[in-house]
Amino acid sequence: MSAALPPLAGAKDRLLPASVPVPYFAAALAFHGLAWLSLAAAAEWVPGFAGGLGPPLAALHLVTLGVLAMVAVGASLQLLPVALRAPMPLPVAARAVHLLLVAGVPVLAWGMASGRVLPLSLGGVAVSSGLALFAALAAAALARARGSSLVIAHVWTALACLLALALLGLALLGDFVHGWLPDRAALAAVHLAIATYGFLGLLIMGLSQILVPMFALAPNPPARPGWIALGLAAFGVALAGAGWFLAGAIAGLAAALLHTSLMALVLRRRARRRLGPSFVLIGLGWAMLPASLVLGAGLAFGILPRGFAPIFVLVLVGGWLLSTVLGVLMRILPFLATLHAAKRGRRLMRVEELGDERLLWVQVGAHLSALPMVALGAALNAPALVWMGAMVGAVGAGAFLLFAGLVAWRYYELPPRAGAPAELRERGA
Ligand code: HEM
Repeated sequence: MSAALPPLAGAKDRLLPASVPVPYFAAALAFHGLAWLSLAAAAEWVPGFAGGLGPPLAALHLVTLGVLAMVAVGASLQLLPVALRAPMPLPVAARAVHLLLVAGVPVLAWGMASGRVLPLSLGGVAVSSGLALFAALAAAALARARGSSLVIAHVWTALACLLALALLGLALLGDFVHGWLPDRAALAAVHLAIATYGFLGLLIMGLSQILVPMFALAPNPPARPGWIALGLAAFGVALAGAGWFLAGAIAGLAAALLHTSLMALVLRRRARRRLGPSFVLIGLGWAMLPASLVLGAGLAFGILPRGFAPIFVLVLVGGWLLSTVLGVLMRILPFLATLHAAKRGRRLMRVEELGDERLLWVQVGAHLSALPMVALGAALNAPALVWMGAMVGAVGAGAFLLFAGLVAWRYYELPPRAGAPAELRERGA
């Protein structure tokens, strides 16, 4: 049985000050460009990358932490009050998380690229503290949330994974200095599974239950299969956490197929016919999630040679997670701007009028070209192809930055709405 349309009525009254979520999104877009450029700089080490310190690990964490975790944290801080009627997080604490991430991520990336102990320690501690503070803020808000229990359960499970991934990350960093881990490769694989499928994956699965119906103007998906998908996904992550990667990938695949078919059902029932560039990326993400699990299972079972590891990470991080997060961001940025405009008594524009969709198509085209080029470069041991793909990715990131700048500029240019309180019109607010 489907629930009603998303509970976003009155959302503008539960908005955080724009100065809280917007810097997260701005930082994510900047790190997006930086990550592609650093991948280009790391091109010669990408084919054959099998984990461990070095420039590819730095580029990878510029994406996972700088883009994916940054958007996940910023969007959650705003969505928990808006969609789950949770209490608003304290703005000063939310800004502290942002500061720790924005300062910590480049320092950690520098440490990973250079192997130097000081930036590794400082960056690792800053990022892990930022993530732990976010987990505490989100847990305090979730404990008093009154929205969908299915979404709340997804977020609780994702938060548990977040704490585990940060501890595992610190243990892996410490191992570079102290050499204390008996099986570093196995722990790195557990960290990968818990960070990507656990924290980011479960958060995406949970928030999709609200965001996809909202973007597509469709009824919510039925809750019961959503609970089954969550159970299977959490079971799969737990199996991978215990080192049973093949069993984990199989449970994860069942969860992924159920989740994507639920999302397909939402789209079939939608009222909005034209979905635009954001859904090209979101749809790509839905296809790449099961593909990544098939590749992961192949590696765990030993059918695929170890040389496939960089392609697996690319499909997982670039194909599924980055595509989904960029697609969601394409919608969230103008949507947030219209909510703030409504709150401040400015003339409303249609979401589509705030940005320039052509720039988003450039981002989509660049993303769709960059990923196969990098994958092919890694498979054929051709660093030049990896470099070219990464540069195409950077062009896409530039187009998206321009789009976001345009949204911000048009937002500030919006005149006060006729009928807005006189005091707002005088201030031009
Ligand atoms: C959402 C956040 C994160 C994601 C999605 C993520 C993802 C990944 C992935 C996919 C790998 C595997 C690379 C490979 O072997 O192919 C990895 C390795 C690693 N990560 Fe993270 N990570 C995250 C956060 C962190 C944090 C916070 C730290 C440190 C405090 C960290 C430290 C490491 C280290 C040291 C390795 C290298 C392990 C090795 O191969 O020796 N990660 N991470």
